[in-house]
Amino acid sequence: MGREQIRNRKSGFHYYVVFAALLLLCFVTGESSSASPQRRVSRASPQKKLPAPKTPRVDYLRFSHPTHVEQEKLACDSCHKVPSKNWKEVRAGNAAFPDVSDFPEHSSCLNCHRQQFFARERPAPLICANCHVKNSPRDTSRYLFPSLGDVSDPAKQRREFVSEFAVAFPHDKHIDVVGLNTPRTDDNARALFVNVSFQEKKKDATPASCPVCHQTYQPQGNSSEEFVTKPPNSIGDNFWLKRGTFKTIPNSHAACFTCHNADSGIAPEPKDCNVCHKLRTADANLKVDFDPKLANDMGIKDAAIVARWSRRMSAGAFRHEGGEHPDLNCLSCHNVATFNVLDVKTLKVPVRSCGGAEGCHVTATTDDGGILNFEIDQKKKDPAFVCTKCHIVFGKEAVPENHQAAIPTLPAKKTDD
Ligand code: HEC
Ligand code: HEC
Ligand code: HEC
Ligand code: HEC
Ligand code: HEC
Ligand code: HEC
Ligand code: HEC
Ligand code: HEC
Repeated sequence: MGREQIRNRKSGFHYYVVFAALLLLCFVTGESSSASPQRRVSRASPQKKLPAPKTPRVDYLRFSHPTHVEQEKLACDSCHKVPSKNWKEVRAGNAAFPDVSDFPEHSSCLNCHRQQFFARERPAPLICANCHVKNSPRDTSRYLFPSLGDVSDPAKQRREFVSEFAVAFPHDKHIDVVGLNTPRTDDNARALFVNVSFQEKKKDATPASCPVCHQTYQPQGNSSEEFVTKPPNSIGDNFWLKRGTFKTIPNSHAACFTCHNADSGIAPEPKDCNVCHKLRTADANLKVDFDPKLANDMGIKDAAIVARWSRRMSAGAFRHEGGEHPDLNCLSCHNVATFNVLDVKTLKVPVRSCGGAEGCHVTATTDDGGILNFEIDQKKKDPAFVCTKCHIVFGKEAVPENHQAAIPTLPAKKTDD
């Protein structure tokens, strides 16, 4: 379609007229029960491609931010309004806060896309499916807006998608300002009420801020349920995913807008979407220690687990609740001061940290019990040996240099003692 139609923004245009027309259009085109096509596919499932529409060439089922933000140079708030009209309804009572909790309205598209909004497509114009579930006249419901990761509404469908954005959260600026001293409103972490508190710094103690935003996901705790799914009886010592392996990451604005809101004066404000959300540059060649087939064979369906597991790039088998890990300072493994959330390589856990202060998995000699030492020895004897203690797929590869280098060199042997 030509640019002329796109460029008639200035024409005075009556939303209500269009709206009435839209409804009319819906009714004449009639209902079809066909579900709206899934626009994007989750990271978990193998890439299902939509059948390419023959005409028009532009795929109006897939809204793309690069087209609108980079090419058309539109500001985020030309489409996204904050707070959205429904902010008091989506979260109840105290949990409610002024959030961007709904899709952009028709008015933010119509000036450029009148033709697509009135396209003769059945059961409804393709473009509707970016926001509406069935887009049939009898069902005008919308998906749950994705920023509501903390909201579960059985009446509302959630669409699976891969975000075009990464969240630019500067850890170094928050280590000491986020505290735990204000209670959360419920145990679901639906609203994390946190406030500015300059923590007294205790040496070697995990900063109080980390667990505000990162909790152990499905902890085993004292429960006898060790595994996420039921392992086969023949499991033996083989790997099977255990509960308490992963830490959560924030899934909504609740963890941010308590401080970053229109009244606090702490920049960025909610309307400054682009300060926190940056269009992703391709990290497609990110090497991950994850095997989708294994996850599938284990019957792991939980999207939260798959999302975290499929992003593991250091040690896919590492379990936060395992052994002495819960007693260690998060910072002994995660050097958040040098984190750049947009450059994922900076988030890697150095293999040295598996040695901890006491040696743990990395010892001076194999006899001291270090599993890294043991696995390196095995690999030297037999290149086909697979290192499975910390890894899911990396263990088949050659031993990286930094693994050997992590092993402390023996202090000169004392002759008597
Ligand atoms: C032309 C209108 C428009 C503009 C401008 C726009 N958005 Fe969106 N945005 C949408 C629509 C429509 C959706 C829902 C469809 C979808 O998920 O792609 C959406 C979805 C999103 C999502 C969830 C989907 C995802 O890929 O993560 C985020 C985050 C988002 N927008 C952030 C932003 C930010 C940040 C900016 C500014 C840099 C921006 N938007 C500019 C229309 C717009
Ligand atoms: C300033 C004009 C403008 C506005 C406002 C605008 N678009 Fe677009 N949009 C474009 C242009 C230009 C394209 C490129 C394809 C074309 O020529 O239609 C496009 C393409 C699209 C596509 C095809 C995939 C892609 O490249 O993104 C979808 C879907 C879409 N727009 C949806 C929307 C929706 C929904 C809104 C409102 C939330 C919106 N647009 C607002 C100009 C605009
Ligand atoms: C960019 C997202 C977006 C797109 C694309 C979109 N809608 Fe909507 N639609 C909304 C929002 C948001 C509302 C609620 C507006 C309000 O509350 O004022 C809405 C409301 C409606 C309503 C009123 C019923 C209700 O639930 O409030 C109808 C009918 C409707 N849309 C039909 C359509 C049709 C038909 C299309 C395609 C031609 C379409 N919409 C495309 C976002 C969208
Ligand atoms: C205010 C909330 C907040 C606090 C406090 C916080 N984080 Fe984060 N953390 C985030 C967000 C947001 C991300 C980015 C998630 C993403 O990539 O979408 C993140 C990412 C991470 C990651 C990388 C996750 C990955 O994708 O591999 C690690 C590790 C991490 N944080 C550890 C910590 C530690 C340790 C602390 C305490 C010093 C801490 N965080 C404090 C919000 C927080
Ligand atoms: C003994 C080392 C160690 C300690 C202590 C530790 N982690 Fe981790 N953490 C890891 C490893 C290894 C990964 C996996 C990283 C990867 O493969 O990309 C990880 C991953 C994460 C992630 C990403 C989600 C996930 O589970 O994959 C977050 C968030 C995180 N850790 C937060 C924390 C917080 C908060 C603490 C303290 C309460 C903590 N970690 C303590 C080693 C540790
Ligand atoms: C306890 C209050 C608090 C919470 C919760 C909080 N922040 Fe902040 N944030 C601050 C303060 C204070 C600063 C300014 C720090 C500075 O400049 O040194 C800041 C700075 C920032 C900046 C840097 C702005 C700039 O101009 O460089 C970003 C981006 C940011 N926060 C994002 C987030 C995100 C994303 C979350 C939620 C995951 C979050 N913040 C949660 C208090 C908070
Ligand atoms: C203070 C930082 C901050 C600001 C400002 C902000 N967001 Fe977010 N946003 C986050 C964090 C943190 C998350 C949760 C982490 C995640 O989903 O990756 C999030 C999640 C989202 C999601 C869910 C995306 C996904 O990938 O699941 C959408 C949609 C979204 N934000 C839209 C917006 C829009 C639109 C604006 C502007 C009106 C905005 N955000 C402003 C920090 C921010
Ligand atoms: C005690 C846990 C542990 C053991 C045992 C271990 N690794 Fe690792 N491995 C790690 C960590 C942590 C990283 C991420 C650090 C890095 O890449 O710098 C890593 C990274 C890797 C990588 C990825 C390097 C890259 O290019 O990104 C490979 C390949 C690998 N290990 C192979 C092996 C092999 C082969 C063995 C057996 C000899 C082994 N590992 C034993 C913890 C371990």
